[in-house]
Amino acid sequence: MRIVVTGAGGLVGRAMSEHCLTSGDEVLAFSHHELDISDYEQVNSKILSHKPDAVVNCAAWTNVDACEDDPKRAHAANALGPENLAHSCRKVDAVLLTVSTDYVFDGTKEGFYTQRDNPNPLSVYAASKLSGEHRAQTAHARTIVVRTGYIFGRGGTNFLSTMVDRALRGEELKLISDSWGTATYAPHLARRLRELIVKDLPATFHVVNAGNGVSYDEFAKVALKIANCTTAKLKVVSSDSLKRPAARPRNSRLKCLLSEAIGLKPLPSWEEGLREFLQTPDKSAVGHRK
Ligand SMILES: NC(=O)c1ccc[n+]([C@@H]2O[C@H](COP(=O)([O-])OP(=O)(O)OC[C@H]3O[C@@H](n4cnc5c(N)ncnc54)[C@H](OP(=O)(O)O)[C@@H]3O)[C@@H](O)[C@H]2O)c1
Repeated sequence: MRIVVTGAGGLVGRAMSEHCLTSGDEVLAFSHHELDISDYEQVNSKILSHKPDAVVNCAAWTNVDACEDDPKRAHAANALGPENLAHSCRKVDAVLLTVSTDYVFDGTKEGFYTQRDNPNPLSVYAASKLSGEHRAQTAHARTIVVRTGYIFGRGGTNFLSTMVDRALRGEELKLISDSWGTATYAPHLARRLRELIVKDLPATFHVVNAGNGVSYDEFAKVALKIANCTTAKLKVVSSDSLKRPAARPRNSRLKCLLSEAIGLKPLPSWEEGLREFLQTPDKSAVGHRK
């Protein structure tokens, strides 16, 4: 397959590019400076000239707190971006898979969120991501939306990806103990994204590692144990005490109603993902770029 990956410099984009290359695909991996998905002309010209079989949109403005202060930029990247890609994909009849977020839910539900639950975004970031889902699905029938959350992996700059290194450097870690999500190892997610492209069934999927979900606090304690880091300075805190500008759902655990029905097995547990992450040396090849 010829696959365009957008946001290829990010956590998921990098894992996706690596996985598709390993699977024998021709990978056109574009980082932000090579393709700005909020620019319709750029998107159109890239997609029409390369005529991919599939586009995997891993690009997004993911700074949840900064989005509160710049809704226009959030809308451009997270809502118009997927829509631009969808219009171009329609012209070349390519599958579009766009990655979305567990934050589309408000967190008030007990238990797991499925595709049957109504989104109710709490932040500018989450609202822009939900709008991106709808705009892409409306513009192009061959659109797959994948909601995921609490992602960790090599090259990630977020808390779950960097906490062990930060603890080893002697930094104090503030661990939120009253928010729960379903953790997701980026290479496992990438594997499932490619399987979904091959299935080519336009729908909304929830993709996370198996397990009952986890708080940052629980995740960190398991990670530090695997990494044999016994000297970490930890401070357990409540989500509210951090006084972050954007509200986050207290519970954003996801479950998929469709994956098993179409023959896809559950992903490994998040603990297996975490062991793989902490015990695998960094392979920093990110595919070829055009
Ligand atoms: N990380 C998580 O825990 C998590 C949870 C739920 C959902 N997601 C979703 O997963 C997807 C991938 O996120 P990630 O974790 O890989 O985030 P990431 O590491 O921040 O990667 C996102 C990439 O998109 C790029 N980007 C930003 N605006 C762009 C634009 N207008 N055009 C093209 N590229 C742009 C960024 O480049 P610059 O940094 O150079 O701007 C960055 O390289 C996103 O859709 C995100 O909403 C992530």
